[in-house]
Amino acid sequence: MPAKEDMQYDEQSQTETPVSPFGDGNSPSAELNPSPTAADATTSVSVSRDGERGAGAVADTGTPAVRLQDVSVSFRTRSGEVTALDGFNLTIGDGERVAIVGPSGCGKSTLLSLVAGLLPPDGGIVDVRREVALMPQRDLLVPWRSALRNAALALEAQGKPRAQAAERARPLFERFGLAGFEHARTWELSGGMRQRVAFLRTILTGRPLLALDEPFGALDAITRGEMHEWLEQALAAEPRTMLLVTHDVEEALTLAGRVVLMTRRPGKVAGEIAVDRPTGLSRAQWTTSREFSILKSQALAALR
Ligand SMILES: Nc1ncnc2c1ncn2[C@@H]1O[C@H](COP(=O)(O)OP(=O)(O)OP(=O)(O)O)[C@@H](O)[C@H]1O
Ligand SMILES: [Mg+2]
Repeated sequence: MPAKEDMQYDEQSQTETPVSPFGDGNSPSAELNPSPTAADATTSVSVSRDGERGAGAVADTGTPAVRLQDVSVSFRTRSGEVTALDGFNLTIGDGERVAIVGPSGCGKSTLLSLVAGLLPPDGGIVDVRREVALMPQRDLLVPWRSALRNAALALEAQGKPRAQAAERARPLFERFGLAGFEHARTWELSGGMRQRVAFLRTILTGRPLLALDEPFGALDAITRGEMHEWLEQALAAEPRTMLLVTHDVEEALTLAGRVVLMTRRPGKVAGEIAVDRPTGLSRAQWTTSREFSILKSQALAALR
């Protein structure tokens, strides 16, 4: 039985119906959304999976949600050409949770822009089969809207009436420690609050592929832990595919089933770590386990 705050009132049937913790958009089993490169879809790919256990357990539909093959991106700048990504390969299974960790400037945000379709690659194939909810590194909140109406923006953009969109966002303000700030303007919020509003807006789209760029980087350790817990519970209740960019190796090992480590620019895959977190282990038990500290050492060594 879903929790009370996860219900919404259905005016027509006069009954309460459970709603997604991510909003009421597309379910993960929504129709495939072929990208312009869908012609390449028949290419056979091998998808790394990590079985039935732990945070990375997936609902395997057999079709990768994301496939990047030999991708390169360069930017022309006043001081010359900067190659952000070169020969970058990554396949993400449907429902898989992948974290990307790498040094500053190695192309992580560029990678998310590619996946979200905001940037075309200069070379290679970008094949994304799911609708993407992108949370950019900068929060991009709209200054003339209140916090609540910023959070509701994605739902309004999907055609939901303003009041209904705000009502969907409101319970998450409570849940994310933002109660009382619904009507605050963006400049009245702290950096961490702004980040939570932007996160809220992203997940409320209900889209099946979450592309999150340092979503919790501005938060203190306690709030970050609470957000991790919320996300883990939400993903357990309703699996989504997730591509999470983070500088925090512990965050990656807590939230993802696979951690992809990147080289310095031009960014390539330096290595991967499969995270086999046993089911039923709490966050605290997991992050203090011997296995966790071994994985953390491996990741840090690979990043050096
Ligand atoms: N629009 C752009 N124009 C010019 N150069 C860019 C542009 N976007 C990114 N770059 C360059 O591409 C490289 C990769 O940038 P990107 O933002 O992807 O790095 P990142 O891994 O996300 O870094 P960080 O961890 O600091 O956020 C950097 O050298 C950056 O200066
Ligand atoms: Mg970045």
